[in-house]
Amino acid sequence: HKDDEVEEGWEVIAPMDAALSQKDHRIVGAVRVFISIQLIKRVASSLSNIILIVGAIGGLSLFLLLMTALRRTIENDRRLHEVETRNIDLSEQLHEAERNLMNLEKFSVLGQLTGTFAHEIGTPLNAITGHLTLLKEDVISDKPNLDSRFSILEGQVSKIAGIVKNFLQTTAQPPSELQLIDANQLIEKSLTILGPRLELLQVKVQRHLDRGLGPIRIAPLELEQVLINIINNAIDAIRMKPGQVGGILELSTGLNRRDDAEWLEIRVRDNGMGIPEKDLKKVLRPFYTTKTPAEGTGLGLSICADLLAKVDGNLSVASVENEWTLFTISIPFVHTKESDS
Ligand SMILES: Nc1ncnc2c1ncn2[C@@H]1O[C@H](COP(=O)(O)OP(=O)(O)O)[C@@H](O)[C@H]1O
Ligand SMILES: [Mg+2]
Repeated sequence: HKDDEVEEGWEVIAPMDAALSQKDHRIVGAVRVFISIQLIKRVASSLSNIILIVGAIGGLSLFLLLMTALRRTIENDRRLHEVETRNIDLSEQLHEAERNLMNLEKFSVLGQLTGTFAHEIGTPLNAITGHLTLLKEDVISDKPNLDSRFSILEGQVSKIAGIVKNFLQTTAQPPSELQLIDANQLIEKSLTILGPRLELLQVKVQRHLDRGLGPIRIAPLELEQVLINIINNAIDAIRMKPGQVGGILELSTGLNRRDDAEWLEIRVRDNGMGIPEKDLKKVLRPFYTTKTPAEGTGLGLSICADLLAKVDGNLSVASVENEWTLFTISIPFVHTKESDS
């Protein structure tokens, strides 16, 4: 030890002895080892500091990592929840739209059926009324006592006529107003209406619209009904095609010269389940359907064909089973000042 410093520790002094011969040993020196407790403490404390710092850094990174992972999980969960909510929302909208469409079909056909029925009854009723009046004139002059009988008959017949007339007035669909409209715009509108359904069933829409088309004169609500019916069928066909998720819906418009006249053609093509050749002729008939009662009425296309016939247009269909289906709407195109300008 130096006098001024008192260091605690262990001191080991080992003598070094040299054997000169077998018997003669002599101490030649000594090895002194001093183990300082202070030094040990200093080393230990700096070691523990390093361990502490490393541990702290490690702990902090682990914490940050966990936080990030947790944040991500929470965010993903939130997004999933959002998507699910949106999905439910879309499904509800879709069901609502489908219900409306189905009701529209049913009512439209009911209107047509009852209208036809009332109309058919009206014609013989008119004949009966006429003949009754003539008969009365012939008979009454000879047998005036039959007058009251004739009054009863006339009263009853006119009652039936009143019912029929009333019926015709309530079921007759209001004459739809013809307007000059842009077919492309109407297509866009129908696509917007069916947007949720297209999105939900992952149907991609491809447009090949002739932007230079002039306006056509047609009842817009009716053409819209036709378009929605046909597009909805296309979406159904994509949905029902086995082993396929989603599909492609192609919409195109253009003018076509045929039979010495100009036609506006709207083509709706899908890559859904297609129609077997033997059924192609049946699809436009009323009540022909391959869907369950909850899914279809079999009336959509027959109504479409009727609506188009009203404007001298027509509907045609082509298909390859399991490959594609193409519906072509043709409407006579009449040049107007607007369409030429
Ligand atoms: N794009 C299409 N692809 C395949 N089949 C179709 C398509 N459009 C219509 N069909 C067939 O025509 C049938 C009649 O269609 P529709 O008159 O609209 O009645 P609904 O849709 O109520 O069955 C459908 O059930 C279906 O079998
Ligand atoms: Mg249909």
